[in-house]
Amino acid sequence: MNNVSELAINYLQRYGCKISQDYKTFLREACEIQPPPHGMAWYGNCYRQRARKAEWFAHSLIANAAEEGNGSRKVWQFSRHIQDSECAQLVRSHSIDESRHSNMFVALLNILFPTQLSENFRAQLQNLSPNYYYHKHPTTEPISTDCILDTKMVMDEIIKINLLEIRALILQLLLRPVLQAYSTPQDLAKVTTMSDLFIYDETKHIEYSAYCIGKYIQQGNQEWVRSMMICRQQTVNEMFLTDLELENSLGTTVLSTPNR
Ligand SMILES: [Fe+2]
Ligand SMILES: [Fe+2]
Repeated sequence: MNNVSELAINYLQRYGCKISQDYKTFLREACEIQPPPHGMAWYGNCYRQRARKAEWFAHSLIANAAEEGNGSRKVWQFSRHIQDSECAQLVRSHSIDESRHSNMFVALLNILFPTQLSENFRAQLQNLSPNYYYHKHPTTEPISTDCILDTKMVMDEIIKINLLEIRALILQLLLRPVLQAYSTPQDLAKVTTMSDLFIYDETKHIEYSAYCIGKYIQQGNQEWVRSMMICRQQTVNEMFLTDLELENSLGTTVLSTPNR
């Protein structure tokens, strides 16, 4: 049994998320065949060791704010290629959440490193998020009628999102004690609440994408989903191991993929 699939399933249960048995089986199998590096002890040790340096940690918060902001924009664009209105709506909610996450990372930077940023730089950080809200967001119209993706391409993206959101959850779990260690006693409750929110949101992102995957499985696509989950788990693993060598992705809750 792989710890990444078990952790994800555990958090889904903890928050009362209903997910299909087939999805759980396929996720377990994918993580068994392609074990994710972000679930391995060396990865966590490496992250904790680097996070001891305040400068590295502050930069990783900024990198996260940027990645969540970019992820939010890309996910919104993706929603405009989806025909299924329920799925498109779920993807748009996801985009709004990631936009909020970008702002939350900037807020954490301000709380944990209050005196080390110039006003000018602080203002630039606010622009990392697209600032999408339920009452203020880009158009929901399809990009064009001939740009609607076929269902298999949509499901391929949804599977990638699902596996990347599991990675985002794991990284939030790694981040939590580090945030708490950098926090002053006065800010500890606030920082912990923000961490709780991140963990809840990332679990809900796994839930909605698992729901879409489960629906597709029910339509008779078991074997395709099973093999795509294994294949995309490998894609996600390789993507981040390459980045790891370049030292630029360790610990980021990156949502987007280079080919999205
Ligand atoms: Fe996020
Ligand atoms: Fe997320």
